[in-house]
Amino acid sequence: MAHYDVIVIGAGAAGLHCAATAGYRGKSVLVLDHAKQAGKKILISGGGRCNFTNMYASPENYLSQNPHFCKSALSRYTQWDFIALVQKHGIAYHEKTLGQLFCDDSAKDIVRMLLQECQQAGAKVQLRTEVLAVDSQQQNYHVTTSAGTYSASKLVVACGGLSMPKLGATPLGYQLAEQFGHTVLPVRAGLVPFTLQPQEKEVFAEISGLSVDVEASNARAHFKEAMLFTHRGVSGPAILQISSYWLPGEAVAINLLPQTNVASALRELRQQRPKLGLHSALQEWLPKRLVTSLSEIHQWPNANLADCSNNRFDEVAAQLNAWSLRPNGTEGYRTAEVTLGGVDTDELSSKTMESKRQPGLYFIGEVVDVTGWLGGYNFQWAWSSGWVCGQSV
Ligand code: FDA
Repeated sequence: MAHYDVIVIGAGAAGLHCAATAGYRGKSVLVLDHAKQAGKKILISGGGRCNFTNMYASPENYLSQNPHFCKSALSRYTQWDFIALVQKHGIAYHEKTLGQLFCDDSAKDIVRMLLQECQQAGAKVQLRTEVLAVDSQQQNYHVTTSAGTYSASKLVVACGGLSMPKLGATPLGYQLAEQFGHTVLPVRAGLVPFTLQPQEKEVFAEISGLSVDVEASNARAHFKEAMLFTHRGVSGPAILQISSYWLPGEAVAINLLPQTNVASALRELRQQRPKLGLHSALQEWLPKRLVTSLSEIHQWPNANLADCSNNRFDEVAAQLNAWSLRPNGTEGYRTAEVTLGGVDTDELSSKTMESKRQPGLYFIGEVVDVTGWLGGYNFQWAWSSGWVCGQSV
C-alpha cells in the first residue's frame, strides 16, 4: 500500500493550495478527487474569470457560529499573500467593484497556477478516483478508493460543500466528520436566488433580465447592490448576499430607491407637476416595466398626483423604500454558490484546522462552518484555511 505523509481529499481551491504548501515543506502529498478535472468550481466561478479574492476581506465578511474562528487563518495568510502568488505567476487581474479581484483573461489561469504549484512542490494530484471509505489504524489513515488503498499519517478533508452537485459536490466531508465524532452544524444553501410566491413570480417573470440597484436587508444584515428579476424569482448580488442571512418564512426588506425618500419626493413633484400621473411620476426614478409590474402587484391607481392623498403617497413610499418581499424559498443547492453550516469550528484548531477529537485529521475550505459573502471571500477562506493547514500537517 502506497504511504504518504499527507492525503488531501478534494482537488478544489482549498485542497490544492494546502497540498502545494505542505509539499514545499518537504511532505509527500497525494491529492485525491473523483472529478475528471481539478478545480471545477474555480473554472466556472466569476463568470469564467474567477473572483479569486477581495482586497477588503476581513473576518466581518464571514458567517460562522463562532465568528472569531476565521480570524487566525485570515490574518496569517491574507488576500495580499494570494495576490502576490497570482502576480508571481504573471496572471493579469483587475478590480471589478467593491474590492473584488478577477482574472483579466480566464479562471483557467488560477487552476493552472495551483496545479503548477503542486507540481513544483512535488504534491501528486490524482483525479477520477472515488473515495469509498476511510479508517484510522495505528495512527495512520487508510483511504480506500476506486483506484486502490492509500495510507497517510495526516488526512485533510477538503471536499467542499453541497452546492452544485452537477459539478461533483458530495456530502463526503460531512460524513467523514461525523464518522470521526465531529458535530456537523445544519447545512443550507447560501448565496442563492430566491423563488417567489406564484402571483409575484408570474408578474415579475415579465420583466426577467431587468436589474436595479437596491438595498436588501433584514434584522441581521443589509447589502446595497444590484437585484435582478428572473423567470423564477429574484437574484443578483444584493439578493444572493441577503439569502445567506435569510431563514425560511421570513420577509426581506427591499429598498428599491435607496437614494430617494419617495414620500417627500412625491409631495414635491405634486406641487411642481400636479397633472402628472402617479405611474409616470414613478418612472422618473424606476424603469417603466418595473413600475408596471409593481403597480399590478400593489394595485396602485394611475391617478394624477393632485388627486393622490398623502396617505396614498406614504403607502407607495413604503412599498418602494421598504418593500416587504416574502420569498417562497430558494433555488437550493442546484444554483447556490455556497453551503452554510458544516463542521463545527469549536472542535477544530483555528491555527491549524486540525481536529480536536482525532489527531492527524484536518478540515479546510467550505466543508467547515465558515461561509463568506459574495465577492471573492469564499476563495480567500479556501486559500487561508488551506495554507495554515499545509503549514501544519
Ligand atoms: P471545492 O468545491 O472547490 O472543492 C471540493 C473538491 O472535492 C472538488 O474538486 C470535488 O470534486 C471534490 N470532491 C467532492 N466530493 C468528493 C468525493 N466524494 N470524493 C472525491 N472528491 C470529492 N467564491 C469566490 O470567492 N469567488 C467566486 O467568484 C465564486 N464563484 C462561484 C461560482 C459558482 C457557480 C459556485 C458554485 C461557487 C462560487 N464560489 C466563489 C464559491 C467557491 O467556489 C467555493 O467556496 C470554493 O470552491 C470552496 O473551495 P473548497 O476547496 O472547499 O471546495
